[in-house]
Amino acid sequence: MKALILSGGKGTRLRPLTYTGAKQLVPVANKPVLWYGIEGIVAAGITDIGIIISPETGEEVRARTGNGDRFGAQITYLLQEQPAGLAHAVKVGLPFLGASPFIMYLGDNLIQSDLKVFLHTFKTQDLDALILLRSVSNPSAFGVAKIDENGKVLQLLEKPVVPPSNLALVGVYFFSAAIHAAIDQIQPSARGELEITDAIQQLIDHQKKVEACTLEGWWLDTGKKDDLLEANRIILDTLDPCTQNITQADVDDRSQILGRVQIGARSVVLNCTIRGPVVIGEDCHLENCFIGPYSSIADRVTLIDTDLEHSVILQGAKIVGIHDRIIDSVIGRRAQLTVAPKRPKALRFLIGDDCQIELM
Ligand code: TTP
Repeated sequence: MKALILSGGKGTRLRPLTYTGAKQLVPVANKPVLWYGIEGIVAAGITDIGIIISPETGEEVRARTGNGDRFGAQITYLLQEQPAGLAHAVKVGLPFLGASPFIMYLGDNLIQSDLKVFLHTFKTQDLDALILLRSVSNPSAFGVAKIDENGKVLQLLEKPVVPPSNLALVGVYFFSAAIHAAIDQIQPSARGELEITDAIQQLIDHQKKVEACTLEGWWLDTGKKDDLLEANRIILDTLDPCTQNITQADVDDRSQILGRVQIGARSVVLNCTIRGPVVIGEDCHLENCFIGPYSSIADRVTLIDTDLEHSVILQGAKIVGIHDRIIDSVIGRRAQLTVAPKRPKALRFLIGDDCQIELM
């Protein structure tokens, strides 16, 4: 059994972050989203992993993630020249996959469930495809399954205007080598992509063994800002209640650290209140700040005279003088937000394409 993780794509829904970086490397609780997937796959006993990368962000993914040693796996990188669809990515992966069955995992997805259970079902029932379904409130935004009263999959539709059910296809699939012949049969969809839903539909239409399992735990697609914040909230909530790890940081006695808080090495915290769950990376400088629950602050961030909560601050960002509370925000790498000590009478901006600033 092998695994194919899809870490290419366009990432249009997470612009502007994806202009300068891979969305699969955006951190959730200070760890790249992609790494959660790799860890879940390795925990299920699969260590031969192929990662699909794009020309734009592939080198960054490769440099950060490495050859797999840190996960106890072997990673092979596979370049997809164009983001021509999930089924196209499987085509690109074929030389790596050969005739092996495999898990296909979308590199920006996170699921709570242990993959072992599904892997067991896939193997013992000798299936050609096992898909995972999750009920959602907005099925039109997803691939959707139509199933009969016994749970048998009848039809799959990509982002249907009139969805046949509220069961969305989760971004984790199990396939036998039969999927390759199915992919060879399909044509690009109206949006110009080779859709994995069409390939699975081929399997269904040719009476191959396709089953579905319903996911009970959470499933998050971090491809949009609000989903990223939700993933951050959920992962931070899984921090052990006894976790408070601040021993490598320099925290002065005017600071109050409450609840589940981790602060990395060489970070300096002066006169701050930090109310967990919060993770703070290495080499940060925090001074006169309130950091509220569900915040993740990456390495080398500077926060001075700033209050924030439920936010994700990426590497090297700097925020100064914002005591109006920053909430529900994602601040990109090296971004700088500065408010002069006296209330500003004028606002001065240098804002890149697709940024969103709300002064409320
Ligand atoms: P999507 O989020 O469906 O597509 P996208 O990355 O192009 O993003 P957006 O819709 O915001 O423009 O992709 C799911 C995962 O699969 C994600 O990790 C990117 C990856 N992917 C590929 O590797 N190759 C592809 O051709 C496509 C479409 C996606």
